[in-house]
Amino acid sequence: MPRPTLATIDHRALRANFTALAEQSPHSKLIPMLKADGYGHGASAVAAALGDAALAYAVAAPEEAQRLRSDGVTQPLLLLEGAFEPADLLFASENNCWLMVHNQRQVEWLLQAKLPAALRIWLGVDTGMHRLGLAPQQLQATYRTLINSSNVHSAMVICTHFHSAELGAEQVAEQVALFDSVAAELPAEQSLANSAATLALPHCQRDWCRPGIALYGAGHTAQPPSAGATALQPAMTLSSAVIAVREVPRGDRVGYNGRWQAQRDSLIATIPVGYADGYPRHAKDGTPVVVDGQRCPLAGRVSMDMITVDVTDLARPALGAAVELWGRQLPIGEVAAAAETISYQLLTGISARVRRQQLI
Ligand SMILES: Cc1ncc(COP(=O)(O)O)c(C=O)c1O
Repeated sequence: MPRPTLATIDHRALRANFTALAEQSPHSKLIPMLKADGYGHGASAVAAALGDAALAYAVAAPEEAQRLRSDGVTQPLLLLEGAFEPADLLFASENNCWLMVHNQRQVEWLLQAKLPAALRIWLGVDTGMHRLGLAPQQLQATYRTLINSSNVHSAMVICTHFHSAELGAEQVAEQVALFDSVAAELPAEQSLANSAATLALPHCQRDWCRPGIALYGAGHTAQPPSAGATALQPAMTLSSAVIAVREVPRGDRVGYNGRWQAQRDSLIATIPVGYADGYPRHAKDGTPVVVDGQRCPLAGRVSMDMITVDVTDLARPALGAAVELWGRQLPIGEVAAAAETISYQLLTGISARVRRQQLI
């Protein structure tokens, strides 16, 4: 009998979310994020779900691109961190990858490379995130240098990344103004928007939107989703089943270090999912877990392989009763908030031992 803990990837939800994002940004092209194994959903499975709908995808590294190519994905793949060494340029050129260029070292590599085909470059400019990107004052000169290189395809994209788009228009205003002040007159396409901006900030949509978390139907936080996000559906459901139920008398404690103490005679269900599966160890007592279709509070520390849940208010659940850790009945953002993290970390943290099921 396999362990009942299961991540189900819903291909219809992925397609519906892609369509919702496309409808929300009708004048833009979408380049969905497949980095970090498609935010933990399985990059190749996500690409299979979307089929021809996506024009291109974005990944973090050549290794991620290579895996997608081995699995038969044919769309252009943008390498978001660009080349890590000169050999990556050849890889990109031979494998239909687009390349982020975010610093002078990468510019030098590009100018010196001998490539079979010109590369489509995304020129990253740092407008305030202060992570990657050319300084704004370097952008125009770098653009001119690159556009004159035979290694560079004439259709370039100028892009930047927001640090707080989920907080609204005011929080991106400075970055947009700085971007426009240096990029507006360059004859290139533009890309600014992540999910939050694609959904809620139409003036940031420009030529290419780069949605990640919204494609996966997982909010940034536990806060109510913005208007466009209401249509999004969770693409992953993490489920399991009850494997033990015990009576715990008032005053007894449950789990490591006895963090949770029964305030009344209680019924505790044990579920075979723990931090080694990617369930967050920092989840607090009270974190919601759906047992038999009803929300019940986590009771006690998350162990490596198990959690314990207070099911006193349910009719005694049977062994094998259905459990949802997050998904359609329980937004992942709520679980993330209870563990003081974000849905991104939970999704990308599902470990290899969790079985996958594709709902096609
Ligand atoms: C450069 C870049 N663009 C887009 C995204 C997508 O962000 P989100 O998942 O919030 O849509 C990311 C995610 O980290 C990113 O690094």
